[in-house]
Amino acid sequence: MASNRLISNLSLTGFMGVGKSTLGRFLANSLRYEFVDTDELIERKAGKTITEIFASEGEEHFRKLEHELVNEMANWNRMVISTGGGLVTKNNNLDILKTYSFVACLWASPETIYHRVKRQQHRPLLQTENPVERICQLLEQRARFYKQSDYIVNTDNRPLRVVAQLISKQFHEAVNKGNQQRP
Ligand code: S3P
Repeated sequence: MASNRLISNLSLTGFMGVGKSTLGRFLANSLRYEFVDTDELIERKAGKTITEIFASEGEEHFRKLEHELVNEMANWNRMVISTGGGLVTKNNNLDILKTYSFVACLWASPETIYHRVKRQQHRPLLQTENPVERICQLLEQRARFYKQSDYIVNTDNRPLRVVAQLISKQFHEAVNKGNQQRP
């Protein structure tokens, strides 16, 4: 683990539909941290939905907004941060997140992901004719980034409570290993 880290937050990363927001809210509650979701923060700031941002300004612009937010969050404390599925794959965002948070990645199989997202329409990248193929392609491209997280946990067939306990344990260990939390 990098020595210049100050772990004062917990970030959750992983593909769309793996359950980052649900788990993030649960973890925030048990840690008594505040919960934030990068997609929600970007939508609030832009006054538009993610779908509208992609449609009007394009994906590159959305990635720029994500990167700005990752830099802005550097002074935040006691937050559980749920990150959009592509955030850690761009612009050195993962390294920046690691300077101020412990990064846990939620993993799931393409089948589980498809099952969870198939009735949802708010993710522009999955509005294609063959979403399963798209999920597999993107997962393959992104796996190398997700794998650089501090901890990776498979969520397939695991109850939320168990996944939360596994992440909490790793988070506390990382904090106690000399990575101080800011007051
Ligand atoms: C994206 C994931 C979405 C959102 C945007 C792009 C991605 O967030 O940021 O649609 O590139 O994987 P969730 O992972 O919360 O669905």
